[in-house]
Amino acid sequence: MSCNIAIDGPAGAGKSTIAKKIAKKLGYIYVDTGAMYRAMALYLIREKVDPSETEKISEKCKEADISIGYENGEQVVYLNGENVNGYIRTEEVGNMASASSPNPEVRKKLVELQRKLAASKDVVMDGRDIGTCVLPDAQVKVYLTADSRVRAERRYKELQAKGEECDLDTIERDIIERDRQDMTREISPLVQAEDATLIDSSHMTVDEVAEAVIALL
Ligand code: DC
Repeated sequence: MSCNIAIDGPAGAGKSTIAKKIAKKLGYIYVDTGAMYRAMALYLIREKVDPSETEKISEKCKEADISIGYENGEQVVYLNGENVNGYIRTEEVGNMASASSPNPEVRKKLVELQRKLAASKDVVMDGRDIGTCVLPDAQVKVYLTADSRVRAERRYKELQAKGEECDLDTIERDIIERDRQDMTREISPLVQAEDATLIDSSHMTVDEVAEAVIALL
């Protein structure tokens, strides 16, 4: 049987950094489920679908074939065969992903793909509903969070390093709004699973968090 580690939490809590580090240490495969929702969002943006057009999202998402692969140890997301890693890390795509991910058709399609991956391999999977919905039997479940200001500062530094124009207060406002959308949606809202361990990374280093998760295993 494969061993699964589920890491959920709000935007910018450090889930992907921690999950990647743990996967490397343990020789597990890292699965970034947010990247799949982002690839779907990119498709919808390209198809000029508005976030409010629920029925159109249900319809259009069927045309998007999303799959993942690994190149040089990095997860690559393919949208209808195209590697879209270079296009999905923008605020526009992130906001569309938050707006379109409540759609049941979108979730059904991506959850199926995520379960298939975890069934055959040892994975560290991060997202919003991994411990509560995708992998309810995961051996380790973590709910990773941090103060919204700290999360905004982390995102700000990432964007600055990429040379993107950004404003800290706007990023924090976006993060709070995205949390609200993710936590209040009807299907699979972001919530700590009953059997998940809460880790607040506001005042912890990456290594400290990674060690805390590995200790749970
Ligand atoms: O983690 P991220 O910022 O890349 O995720 C983008 C959006 O995708 C996020 O706002 C909510 C959605 N998402 C989701 O609904 N379920 C997941 N398992 C992962 C992401």
